[in-house]
Amino acid sequence: MLPGALLEELNEQIKYELFSANYYLSMAAYCASEGLDGFANFFFVQDQEERFHAMKFFHFILEKGERPVIKGLEEPRKDFSSLEEVFELALKHEKFVSKRIYDLMELATKEKEFATISFLKWFVDEQVEEEASMSNILSKISRVGEKGEGIYTLDRDLAQRVFTPPAEG
Ligand code: FEO
Repeated sequence: MLPGALLEELNEQIKYELFSANYYLSMAAYCASEGLDGFANFFFVQDQEERFHAMKFFHFILEKGERPVIKGLEEPRKDFSSLEEVFELALKHEKFVSKRIYDLMELATKEKEFATISFLKWFVDEQVEEEASMSNILSKISRVGEKGEGIYTLDRDLAQRVFTPPAEG
């Protein structure tokens, strides 16, 4: 069992995680169309991470004896003007997701729902990494610029990223 308002917000979070996946796929499409396959790979892996996040919420709701609800998703933006804009938007989005996790934590705390508090701690830590990863790449792009050798070196580095689901997930 979960308190109604908390269950509603946990279900909303499945939607936000799935939206994040689609948003990052849209960014992958932009990067691939610009010939930056390493950056596209970065976002393909990010898409997998977000689906993994969504499924963590889905299974948690099930484990608590409730029924997950899959909701409709807003269409993600598809036009971007530069790599810098892509990563600015990705960072802004991760900050928004962090705020959602903090709001969920606040609600779980108010409801004294200790299992949910414990579950959400993983996401609090994960969001620190998510924001750091976007911010890191954004500052590298600002340093090397959009054209020239530097961006191709960064593209080659990002081509190495692979999705590894955490053991406890
Ligand atoms: Fe599911 Fe990127 O946070």
